[in-house]
Amino acid sequence: MTGLATGACVGDFSRPIMWKGRFQEQTAELLQTFSESISFDWRLWRHDIEGSIAHSAALEKAGLISKDERAQIVAGLREIGAEITAGKFEFKIALEDIHMNIEDELTRRIGDAGAKLHTARSRNDQVATDIRLYLRDECDALSVLVRDFQRALVELAERESNVIIPGYTHLQRAQPVAFAHHLLAYVEMFARDAARISDARKRMNILPLGSGAIAGSTIVLDREFIASQLGFDGVTQNSMDAVSDRDFAVELLAALALIATHLSRLSEDVILWASSEFQFITISDAYTTGSSLMPQKKNPDVAELTRGKTGRVIGNLVSLLTTLKGLPMTYNRDMQEDKEPVFDSVDTVKNSLAVFIGMMRGIKVNRAACATAVADPMLLATDLADYLVNHGVPFRKAHEVIGKAVALCAQRACALPALTLTDYQQLSSAFAADVFECFDLAKAMAARKATGAPSPQNVSAQIARWKATLAG
Ligand code: ARG
Repeated sequence: MTGLATGACVGDFSRPIMWKGRFQEQTAELLQTFSESISFDWRLWRHDIEGSIAHSAALEKAGLISKDERAQIVAGLREIGAEITAGKFEFKIALEDIHMNIEDELTRRIGDAGAKLHTARSRNDQVATDIRLYLRDECDALSVLVRDFQRALVELAERESNVIIPGYTHLQRAQPVAFAHHLLAYVEMFARDAARISDARKRMNILPLGSGAIAGSTIVLDREFIASQLGFDGVTQNSMDAVSDRDFAVELLAALALIATHLSRLSEDVILWASSEFQFITISDAYTTGSSLMPQKKNPDVAELTRGKTGRVIGNLVSLLTTLKGLPMTYNRDMQEDKEPVFDSVDTVKNSLAVFIGMMRGIKVNRAACATAVADPMLLATDLADYLVNHGVPFRKAHEVIGKAVALCAQRACALPALTLTDYQQLSSAFAADVFECFDLAKAMAARKATGAPSPQNVSAQIARWKATLAG
């Protein structure tokens, strides 16, 4: 079965299922295969067991099961968990999903105590609980990865803090920037991503269990007690909302889509920088691939695949929104379709981040190629306009004057520093001999000291800030 990485999944279509009382005929095999989710929701097993253990504690607290029955339930569930971990548990398609697979096996093993577990519970509140528990863990794993990724960027920024490259707008050379400044832009983006994940986690961390199928239960359990057992911050306040809500999954998918988008943009930068045309960086052999035909090739596949997978991660967000948009209250079976996009986005983004961390750590900057590219004096055309502004010329006028200087260069096929002082003075009387100092790259960088601009001092301060923020 697709996605089944542990245990086995068998098509034992003859097994009785949970609603056998109401039905005379066996479910069609075709429907069983169509409706099963065990092939992908098996991975909720740990959280399903965790939820059931907490639920059984509330059943005992309410006097619905004895201490001994609770002990049997807990031991049985742990045993099942150990078998799943060991890959020895046999998941059955006839039992549809992870919830029924575990409950059925528990009851087969311990009898009546197992049959009492589903008291005051529906798969509707159970699955809502399981996904929240599962995604809560994934949020934590993602937060760690995002921070590690930021650290990898900051390390590279620090290692290459003296390198200046052309900054681009419209992919046309614009103004010089520190290579570190460019990397730190991504550190900022991923800080917002990390904040979005922890924000989504907060809203996710509310317990739906106890909402039953739609309207709670006449058998009243201490939901706050279950919540505290499971580390939830509170309990949902409306049973209908609780079983129909997948906002938390949408929020996480949106956060993941944005992370993937950010990675995709960085991928594009990396691909350009590693190209023969740019040659700003070399990606290590360990994170590049060759060509089966062209012996000279060294391809940036990590970046390309990450960029490519972004389409799927964005698609997963749209897929879940589309699934939800036509659903009347409350739980509808359509909602089972939430899992594959959620699992896929979580896996894809985690894998992309992990492999990107490795790739970024192995990147070598080709300082000479960067220096050659940034030596293009056109990058300092704006600095020349600023020079005129500092000599009393209104900016719009200064812009026009420098535009004419650039046009003159184009006509003469020369660079801005090759124009003579006379040339400059013919364009504007505000020019003096010190105009040529504008072409001093170090001075030009040092002058960019507004908050957020890439003067060397600012860049070092930002590196220090991020190192402190990301320490530990
Ligand atoms: N496998 C189902 C899901 O993922 C569990 C809930 C099923 N509830 C039901 N009433 N059929 O959504």
